[in-house]
This record gives sequence, structure tokens and C-alpha cells, in this order.
Amino acid sequence: MAKDQQVTVFAFRYSCYILLVLSSFSSISFLYWSHCSGPCYSSVQTAEQKQNQPTNLLSFPSAWNHLSLPLKPPSNLLKIALFDKKWPNRFQAGGLERHALTLHLKLAKRGHELHIFTASSPNTTFPKYPISNLHFHQSKPTNAGYLDQAIAWRQFQAQNSTGKPFDVIHTESVGLLHTRSRGLPNLAVTWHGIAYEAMHTDIIQELLRTPEEHRAYALTERATKVIEEVKFFQNYAHHVATSNHAGDVLKRIYMIPEERVHIILNGVDEEIFKPDVNKGKDFKQKFGIPQSKSLIFGMAGRGWSMEHKIQRSQGQFTGFGAIGAGSTGRVLQCNRCFVNPTLRAQGLDHTLLEAILTGKPVMATRLASITGSVIVGPEMGYTFSPTIDSLKKVLYQVWEDGRGNLEMKGQASRREA
Ligand SMILES: *[C@@H]1O[C@H](CO)[C@@H](O)[C@H](O)[C@H]1NC(C)=O
Ligand SMILES: *[C@@H]1O[C@H](CO)[C@@H](O)[C@H](O)[C@H]1NC(C)=O
Repeated sequence: MAKDQQVTVFAFRYSCYILLVLSSFSSISFLYWSHCSGPCYSSVQTAEQKQNQPTNLLSFPSAWNHLSLPLKPPSNLLKIALFDKKWPNRFQAGGLERHALTLHLKLAKRGHELHIFTASSPNTTFPKYPISNLHFHQSKPTNAGYLDQAIAWRQFQAQNSTGKPFDVIHTESVGLLHTRSRGLPNLAVTWHGIAYEAMHTDIIQELLRTPEEHRAYALTERATKVIEEVKFFQNYAHHVATSNHAGDVLKRIYMIPEERVHIILNGVDEEIFKPDVNKGKDFKQKFGIPQSKSLIFGMAGRGWSMEHKIQRSQGQFTGFGAIGAGSTGRVLQCNRCFVNPTLRAQGLDHTLLEAILTGKPVMATRLASITGSVIVGPEMGYTFSPTIDSLKKVLYQVWEDGRGNLEMKGQASRREA
């Protein structure tokens, strides 16, 4: 097969999870699965003392994840309120929902008292957790599917007036609207995507659009949204940005004072995502990938049908259905390089974090959150512009760099992770 044929499979518009195996330049395999993203959390942490100099976390300018933290149990137990539009059903979530689940379960397991104000889900049974200090307060969602602010607020007030008021109030995105968050000094909001970042996606979509396709988003509408956000974001006392780039935008474009912006990258379960050669070998065997295949790429995304875009007749493409975090961990083990051609500029991509923690070099779209917080240099991997030419160029580069180089980049990734 010609090189050109091999790379045309990347002519997609939406990201997806596939695993592609190149044994030599004459054969190619794809394994595709849709991604059910692994547990992720932002580590809420206290600062290590550097040469007995206490660190003021509120004004700490870099990502908190760069701090080393004690593992011992907290000396102060907090009463924490969380406003979250949708609490995920254990295994079927990615992004924001998975983040909320993992972070708050971890906090509850550390002994903090958690009260979660969330919308009930009519069709699924609400998950049960055997943690006595974890409390759920559900309410019927509004017709538009949002958290009913009036009901959730009443539930919150009832819990706040039991003698022990809340120490911290956390809202995942606009779970608690700005009209209610105004004037609460002990509130933090975590943003998983802001309009300014989304403009980059809009620009890419617009450039990729064929003449027959409708405009997905009018850029002018998005610009209006940015202005709205700049205004109402001021009503949240503290802001958690999940990437260095989002943190910068919040400070610079949204003009939020520095001591109110905190960068905490999404966390990934280190027990699941770690280097393990044997796991990769087992997985290859299970799915009939010859051990001789020397170059394997994994790719990520959700809900996009690869079958329509990739010719199965190549005989080298295998698709997976939705898989959980455990399997994702195993699949990552057998990659030589992990590719994420995402066009989503908002938030921070979890799958890339999972890949670097597994010790894999990564290749991804040149989006500011990714270049600023994940693939921070060429020693970790590769970035490309969302064009076919740029992607081809970088794929050839991987071939040229070869196995030894990739392994070195994988080690650098692991160190950074
Ligand atoms: C619940 O199920 C009904 C009937 O199957 C469906 O119409 C509705 O959209 C579902 N609601 C949600 C929130 O999934
Ligand atoms: C929660 O209760 C405390 C103590 O009564 C009070 O100072 C605080 O304003 C209350 N918070 C809200 C948001 O009502």
C-alpha cells in the first residue's frame, strides 16, 4: 500500500479511538473502539513546603499538579457542597461527568462530608455508594435538562443551616448559575470549556466545511458568548481552569484577578494508567495482532462511526465497541504512539493524559490546551495542524524517527505525566 493510502484514513472530521498497526510499509491494521473514558479527577491538594517556605496556593501561578503532596489523611475535614447537572452512571461517562465522579468520590473517601446537588435521571437507577459521608440531593431536571436552580438552592440552604455550614461550595461549570453564586466567597467553579477556547474549534470546523454543509456555528454568535462569559464569570469567587491555557485566558481575556484563578489539570487514575509491557502483549494476543507488528498507533474519540470512513477491505482495521477504563489502559499498552486528532479545543483531553501516564509518546492536534499542558515539547511527541498535509507530514516523521526515538519520547512523556 502506498504511503498516501495509509494516511488518507486520517481524513476525518471528528475524533475517534482507533488502534492502528503498521508492521511494515506494506501492511496496516486498525483497531477501533469508542472511548468510555477512564476515571479522572483534579487533585485538590495542599502545598508542600519548599525549604520551609509556605506556598500560598491562592496565588500559586502554575498548575497545582506540579506540587508534591503528602499522602497522609487530611487534618481538617470539610463540609463540601457540589452542584453538578448530571451525576454519571458509573461506567458510561467521559469528560466533565467523569471528572466530577472521580474527584468527589476521592474527597469523600478521604473523610470529607460531601453533599451533591444534582438532577435525577428518570430512566436509570441512581448509583449507590457505601460511603456514609456522601449525600445526594436530587431534583427533577428542568425541561431543558438543567439543574432546577430553585429546588437545588432550597436543598442547599436546608443542609447549610443544620448547625454546620458548608466550608466550600463547588460547581461543575454552570451547575450553580451565576445569579446564585454571586457574593459567595467560599465558592469555586471548575470550567471544562469556555467560549473563547471553543472559537478555535469553530474556526477549524468552518475551514473544513464543504460547500454543501451548513455552518455549524456562526463565529459571531460565539464572540457574543465570550462577551457574556466575561461579564458573568465575575460572579464566581474562584475559578478552576483545567489547563494552563484556560487559566491564562481567564486571567488575560476574562480579566479575572490572578488570585481567583487556579490551574488544576484533570487527574487520571494512576493505578490503571501505568507502563506495563505484559498487559500490552496479552491484549495483542487476545485481538490477534501479531507480536511482529512494529509500529502501532492508538487513536481516541467518542461516538463516531469509523466504518464509514475506513475501508475494512484493507484487512488491517479492527473496531472495538465502547470500552471501560481498564481496557483502555490495556489498549494503550500495546501502542507505539498514541494519536488524538481531536478538534475539540475546550477543556483538557483526558485520553492524552492517560496515554502519557502509560509512558507512550503522543501525537495530537496543535490546540493550546494540549501544547500548553500535555505535549509541552518535541521530546514527548508530535503535534500537527488539523489539515491532512500537516498530519501526513507528522506521520512520516514518526516512521523516520523509528522505534528507539519513540521509546525515548514515551519515557519523557511518563516523566512529565
Ligand atoms: C427516558 O425514556 C423515555 C422513553 O424511552 C425517552 O423518551 C426519554 O427521552 C428518556 N429520558 C432520558 C432523560 O433519557
Ligand atoms: C450558610 O450558613 C452560614 C452560617 O449560618 C451563613 O453565614 C452563610 O451565609 C450561609 N450560606 C449561604 C450561601 O446561605
